[in-house]
Amino acid sequence: MEKLIIHGGNPLFGTVNISGSKNASLPILAATLLTRGECIIRRVPDVSDTNYMLQILQNLGADVERASGTVVVKCEKLKSHVAPYDLVRKMRASVCVMGPLLARHNRCDVSLPGGCVIGDRPIDLHLKGFEGLGAEATVEGGNIHLKARYGLQGGEVNMSGKYGTTVLGTDNVLMAAAIAKGTTVIKGAACEPEVVDLADFLNSMGAKITGAGTATITVEGVTELSGTEHVVIPDRIEAGTFMVAGALASESALKVNRINPKHLELITKVLRESGYQVDETADSLTVHRNPNGTGANIVTSPYPGFPTDMQAQMCALFATTEGESVVKDTIFPQRFMHLSEMKRMGADFEFDEGTAVIRGVEQLSGAPVMASDLRASAALVLAGLNAKGSTDIHRVYHIDRGYEGIDEKFRNIGARIDRVRE
Ligand code: EPZ
Repeated sequence: MEKLIIHGGNPLFGTVNISGSKNASLPILAATLLTRGECIIRRVPDVSDTNYMLQILQNLGADVERASGTVVVKCEKLKSHVAPYDLVRKMRASVCVMGPLLARHNRCDVSLPGGCVIGDRPIDLHLKGFEGLGAEATVEGGNIHLKARYGLQGGEVNMSGKYGTTVLGTDNVLMAAAIAKGTTVIKGAACEPEVVDLADFLNSMGAKITGAGTATITVEGVTELSGTEHVVIPDRIEAGTFMVAGALASESALKVNRINPKHLELITKVLRESGYQVDETADSLTVHRNPNGTGANIVTSPYPGFPTDMQAQMCALFATTEGESVVKDTIFPQRFMHLSEMKRMGADFEFDEGTAVIRGVEQLSGAPVMASDLRASAALVLAGLNAKGSTDIHRVYHIDRGYEGIDEKFRNIGARIDRVRE
């Protein structure tokens, strides 16, 4: 295993180029299962989650080639309709192969993904969506068995649940409906930019999807989809992570480049309201340091609300921001593992029922801490940037799941970070 050692107190400067989106790449790679044609997908980040997805596709019989950020996938001859436990357990997002496999084979067997540290990760809404298209779902022996005895029929499905809508659930139904017979109307659909990118990818294959990015998506089923070429959108969560780094630890400012600022409007709004100047161009946001920045009250919600994937990073900023901040995660109320680790660094907070009240302290002090999930680990890197002394972050594989070369990117903008085997 490896750990990162963050030597605090080295101010950041310059420009960081953001990679393609992990959360757009995963469903788009799964969607290649819907065609026998060749798909060329550019700007796929080289992170372990996308590598796991490529392993799953290969396990199903796909031909896969990868050259730096470009992936070529051809699912001409699939040999299986099964996504086994030993692959799915490594990455729960692999559940997004269910929709395309069901649509292609009229059946599929996929291992139940299980939960993770940020909370229980049910898929009841996914299954409800498939049943709305005429499939039968049974769960047995830790596997989901889906069958569409008479093929998939378009219909009206509602993807909203107790915690709002579901991103991968919307993706799954979108992919299944693309080649179902008839028209499907998806109500309560997720509006995330990654869902829009998937819809754009499917439409470039010949699908007929309208309304992506709104809560109602209409899909007119087609008989066949062809291969295509596509460039994945920038990773808005990686971009937001570096925007917080700029606010927290830049000498004066940090330019976050090769992004779509529209995907970061709420992060920009919250930072500006907290006193951080943010300059915007067509493909970049430059965040200025402000030692007198103020705290904020944040409640996460589905896009275009404040993203749950950015709340840990904001906690890292508020840990040394004067005053009191309140962070409430309505999507994953348990997603606060980062706080107990930051407490080891001297952070001052209370936590109850999915809400953290954070009181800023003068400075954190470096300490050995444990990464637990992707975004909590990134928050610990941010917390270490300004801490007194050095911070050892163990189990750094959590970060490598979704951040492409995070230590190299931080070194290139002035941070002192070492990656060492432990
Ligand atoms: C996607 O996960 C993202 N992952 C997550 O990012 C992100 O945190 C999440 O959306 C919310 O924005 C990918 O896109 C690969 P959901 P997803 O289904 O689709 C409940 C990261 O850090 N729910 O939108 O799995 C669920 O428990 C990852 O990059 C049901 O109740 O999340 C949660 O409370 C972490 N039943 C809420 O909905 C279901 O069938 C939103 O989950 C499905 C979900």
